[in-house]
Amino acid sequence: MAEFTRRQLLAAGAGVSALTLLPSCSKSAEEKPDEKKVEVFSWWSGPGEGEGLEALITEFKSKNPGVEFTNAAVAGGSGTQARQVLASRLLGKQPPDSYQLHAGLEAADDIKADRLEDITYLYDANGWKSKFPAGLVDKLSIGGKIYAVPVNIHRSNLMWFVPSKLQEWGITPAKTYSELLTQAAALKAKNVSILSVGATWTQLHLLENVLLGELGTDKYNGLWDGKTDWKGAEVVAALETFKKILSFSSVGTDDWQPTLDKVLAGSAAYHVMGDWAAGYLQGPKALKYKTGYDVLASPGSTGVYNFLADSFTLPKGAPHKTYAEAWLKVCASAEGQDMFNPKKGSVPARLDSDKTKYKDYLEWALKEWQNPSTKVVGSVVHGVVANNAFKAEVEKAYGVFVQDKDSAKFAGAVATAYGANK
Ligand code: GAL
Repeated sequence: MAEFTRRQLLAAGAGVSALTLLPSCSKSAEEKPDEKKVEVFSWWSGPGEGEGLEALITEFKSKNPGVEFTNAAVAGGSGTQARQVLASRLLGKQPPDSYQLHAGLEAADDIKADRLEDITYLYDANGWKSKFPAGLVDKLSIGGKIYAVPVNIHRSNLMWFVPSKLQEWGITPAKTYSELLTQAAALKAKNVSILSVGATWTQLHLLENVLLGELGTDKYNGLWDGKTDWKGAEVVAALETFKKILSFSSVGTDDWQPTLDKVLAGSAAYHVMGDWAAGYLQGPKALKYKTGYDVLASPGSTGVYNFLADSFTLPKGAPHKTYAEAWLKVCASAEGQDMFNPKKGSVPARLDSDKTKYKDYLEWALKEWQNPSTKVVGSVVHGVVANNAFKAEVEKAYGVFVQDKDSAKFAGAVATAYGANK
């Protein structure tokens, strides 16, 4: 499932994969049909993503007057905290009416664990199958049944900077990691860190993009489908590069917004982060594209879209199924997507969105996404190419790597974990 082509992902009309599915029981256990309520669970509470979610909620409220909306967002970028809270709610049979997950192997895990309702009927009733890229719907499907609605496409492999600061330091955006390391040494003398890096997930986010930039798309894909040997010399060399980059970086424990703030303040040159950063920079930070901030593909990944897609579900046992369906309709609608994505910093998953709504960075993003020569790969940190068990093992091995800095050992641990969890 890790390997796919851009054409497969972008073709219109839903095709579905033929993996086997556990038996499902269709009736929700705790339905409360008399209550006009809906509870939506996500991790979009921080600046930038919070505003994106609010736009969707506003659209929901205008389409569903009188329905009480509970925004059950749990703070923490990339959902690290939210997923723990969600897991205990699902275990305790207290599901929200809808929750966020990523298209790809993360979604496949929840489908196989029988946590989600089959919502193919919503796709059929609303004609959605032709409205989304077939390959994307495939990443939310098993056994011909579809289990979630994609709201967007994000790009992971981006490097954010302030043009006037780079000018002040006499550098232009690094195109390769070796160029970045040369700049790092020069900037060190000026007391500037090359990158600002934050909490562990942001480090792993950087790591996936260093691997992508150093190995190229084919070998990067091979890391997640068994074709690239983790213990091979090239991967170990890329890990060494990553280590060197970290040694010139300001590494903290903050989430992505305060980490990006260090770039705005001029204490670090770049931040490698997904394009939710555009939502933050243009929204809460009110900065102008190209002057206040700028962005390029992270080093070595020009013309590549390391993608992820946020999606919403109908969990088994959702208490307010009718309004959960109404929420999913808003998520799937062109209007909903065009209100949400410009604020969120993502391009719409729908194929028939209003392109005029996507300006500045997003105009470029949409062009890149739709360019037939763009190569599409999937993010590991954001659920596309690694299942939850393998991802957890990568995180565990990374925790050891941070302590002992042994690249070969890290590569070996990930190789073993891949074998055990594929
Ligand atoms: C990703 C999510 C994005 C954004 C990011 C930072 O996992 O898909 O929408 O929220 O985390 O929180």
